Order: sequence, then C-alpha cells, then structure tokens
Amino acid sequence: MGLSHDPFLFLSGQIIRTEGDVNTKILLEEKDMPRQWYNIQADLKTPLPPPLNPTTGQPAGPGDLSFFPMSLLEQEMSTERWIDIPEPVLEKLLIWRPTPLYRAFRLERFLSTPAHIYFKNEGVSPAGSHKPNTAMAQAYYNKMAGVKRLTTETGAGQWGCALAFAGNQFGLEVKVYMVRVSYNQKPYRKVLMETWGASCVPSPSPDTKTGRDFLGRNPEHPGSLGIAISEAVEDALASPDTKYSLGSVLNHVLMHQTVVGLEAQQQMAKAGEYPDVVVGCVGGGSNFAGLTFPFVRDKMNGKDVKVVACEPVSCPTLTKGPYVYDFGDTAGKTPLMAMYSLGHAFMPAPIHAGGLRYHGMAPLVSRLLGDGLIEARAYTQSQTFAAGLTFARTEGYVPAPETNHAIACVIEEARKAKEEGRETVILMNWSGHGLIDLGAYDAFLSGKLEDVVLGDDELGRLMKDLEKFPKP
Ligand SMILES: Cc1ncc(COP(=O)(O)O)c(C=O)c1O
Repeated sequence: MGLSHDPFLFLSGQIIRTEGDVNTKILLEEKDMPRQWYNIQADLKTPLPPPLNPTTGQPAGPGDLSFFPMSLLEQEMSTERWIDIPEPVLEKLLIWRPTPLYRAFRLERFLSTPAHIYFKNEGVSPAGSHKPNTAMAQAYYNKMAGVKRLTTETGAGQWGCALAFAGNQFGLEVKVYMVRVSYNQKPYRKVLMETWGASCVPSPSPDTKTGRDFLGRNPEHPGSLGIAISEAVEDALASPDTKYSLGSVLNHVLMHQTVVGLEAQQQMAKAGEYPDVVVGCVGGGSNFAGLTFPFVRDKMNGKDVKVVACEPVSCPTLTKGPYVYDFGDTAGKTPLMAMYSLGHAFMPAPIHAGGLRYHGMAPLVSRLLGDGLIEARAYTQSQTFAAGLTFARTEGYVPAPETNHAIACVIEEARKAKEEGRETVILMNWSGHGLIDLGAYDAFLSGKLEDVVLGDDELGRLMKDLEKFPKP
C-alpha cells in the first residue's frame, strides 16, 4: 500500500484541542463502577425459546449442561433484572475498570464530520479486550463450586488469554483449545496464556476424540470455533473436577459484559450527550451486548436510538443466516439453541478477525434482531482494515481486527452525518487492541489480504443439516 500521498499527513502539526467542556477522556472513579449486572431477559416481552436436548427435542435440563456450575446455570435462566456482582469479582474488575470513554476528536476532524464519535476502550484490560469481564465472574463461580480446572476454546486468542488471566487470579488450572489457523497467525497469544499459567493447544488437537477425528480427515485442518468448543466440552465431561467455560453466546456471559454499557451510560451523561447510534462488532455477541443492552433497555422504554451489530461478510450470521435451532458446536455436544446460524458445519474462511468466525449468534442478540430492536451490517476484511488503519492514524490506538468491523460502521455513520449535516452522536465498543495482531496489519499493508464472500449455494447446503431440528 503506497503511502507517498498519505492522506493523514495534513493532521501533523495541527493542534487538536478538546472542545467546550467535553474532555477527550471521560473517566469514572472506582466507586462509580456498577455493582450489579443488567439482565435483559427481565425486559423481553416473551421468554427466549429454551435450549433443547437434541435427542428428545425437550427443553434441556441441568443434566444436559452439567459442564457448567449450577450458579452460572441459574444466571443463564434468571429473569431478575439486576444481579449483584459478588465482592471478589468486583475486586478483580477494579484491576482495570472503570474503563475510559474517549471522544474521538481526531477521527472526527479527519472525516470532517459534524458527528460526535465516542469509543469505550475495553482494550485497557490486562488481556487486551472486553473478555476478562466475564472470565473473572466465571472463574469465581467455578472456584466457589469447588472446580479445579477449566477448559475452553478460543478463536483469535483474546478469550483464551482472558480465562488464563482469570484462572491465575482465582487459582484454577486452565486448558485452552485454540483454533489452529489463529494459533499459527498469532503465536504470542499462546505465550501470553502460558505467562498466566494456562496451557494452550491448537485445535483440532490429538487430545480429544473430536480432535483426532478431524485430524484423521485432514492433518492440516485449520479448525473452527465450533470444533474447539466440541473439544473443550469433551475434555470437561471426561473429568469430575473440570468444567467448561464459554467466552460468549450464552445469556450469563452477555450479562457479565453489561458493566461496559452501564459505565458508558454514566460517562455519556457526564459528557452531556445521549447516543443516536450505538455500535459493536459481533462474533458470539458478548461485547456488542455488553455495550448495547442497557441502551436497548432505554429503547424499549421509548428512547430513539439505533443499535447496529457489525459482522464479517465471510461469516454473515445475522445478515444472511436464518433463525433456527442449531448446535452451539460442530460435533453436536451442546444442546440446540434458538439463534441465527450458518449451520454448525460451517467452516469459516481464515480471516484475521478470528473472534468473529462463529457459525451462530447469541440467542439474546438473535431475539433482539428478530424483534427489530437492533440491526445488522456486514463488512469485508479490506473495508475493516482500511477503517482500522484510519483509526490508528488518527486516534493512535491500534484496534483488534474484530473491533475494526465496528469502526467501519462508525465511519460509515459519520460520513452519513456529514452528508445530512447532522451532529449525530455515535458510541462504539472498542472491544480490544490489535498489538498482538500485527501479522494481520502486515498482511493488509503488503496487499496480501483476501476478501471472501459466503455463497448462497454453500449456505443452502449448510441449511440442509438443520432441516431435522424443531423450528423456534
Ligand atoms: C477484540 C474482540 N472483539 C470482539 C470479539 C467478538 O466476540 P463477542 O462477539 O463475543 O464479543 C472478540 C472475540 O474473540 C474479540 O477478541
């Protein structure tokens, strides 16, 4: 990519000041950190369709989900609107929370937009993303249940790092199955997990029957989140002192992330603004939910706010997938969940946004899309990296490839605001930094990134597998 006519140079030497009484960073004190999580299940008009046992077709019971401790299963089903965050979890969250909200003055100037752009920086956590918000809670509840060891999957490695960090804080052994293509793309993620005392193997791995089956068919199998979940669940089911931990998708995981949106609400109020548009990228749905659910609650109560979920064109779960019952993993070890899905056999292209390569979507996010409370948009890999580069060259922070999907949408909305001459207030969840994803930036800068689009023929073939399941 030629930089001879670098469009950002014009910014150099220009002194950008904060405007009026709005600061660049809107900070909260530790005492302002939320003490409760917001559970959006309390505000749904009708309950979510239950997870189903795939053999009987009946609602799944605790026995079908024995790889989770009972306390987390209770949260999964709860319809209490507010759930107390236990003190030991609060104490760990205080390591990096409350996180700063930024006004992206420099990006606004570059786009010459009248829009006001805010981003909630979840990249300041030790693991580099929003993921530790739930990792700490899950590690705590498992520890309280007498669990000694946790297994999990990870795509890009952010979740694996978060659970490694949380396991270290609460004295739990952690084993991470990392999607092989990401394992190869991001070697430092494994080192980070090991630094916190966890172990990390590429998935498919020889350590489980599921992994051996996939390796038998293709020794160089690139892996997928669905396969890594199957391996981690199989491992947890094989030993009584081990449980499985999921970094997204489930109701309790999304709820643990709502500290992000609850803080952002306070911070936007401090800035004297309310967002017209709230944006997050979606893999399984947790960072999107964390920022947006408190605002969706406002929308349910009459506020006029647009909420946008951003995903890759190569993994278009919300923009192309149907609303179905499907497995959460590839090998069919989980109950069936009602969600938008590309089919559990979907093998995503090896894009760099490893955390967005999941075939399904959180049932709660799926329901909100179905109810018209949120909307979804898809972006190509090159659109998202172009947006990420614009962000890095204006605001300085280098975003994770996943986060770049949200930035692409923010830039789109800011340009629209310019065309319409409106001071649109845009709020985004900046879900993580990309400092361990520089290989992806290298590929983009040297013109090696490819754009992959999921074809309708392939989608049709994947949907055939789901015809035998009940309809939600
Ligand atoms: C930085 C970052 N953002 C977003 C995501 C997407 O996950 P979720 O949809 O659960 O937030 C991931 C997942 O790994 C991630 O690492």
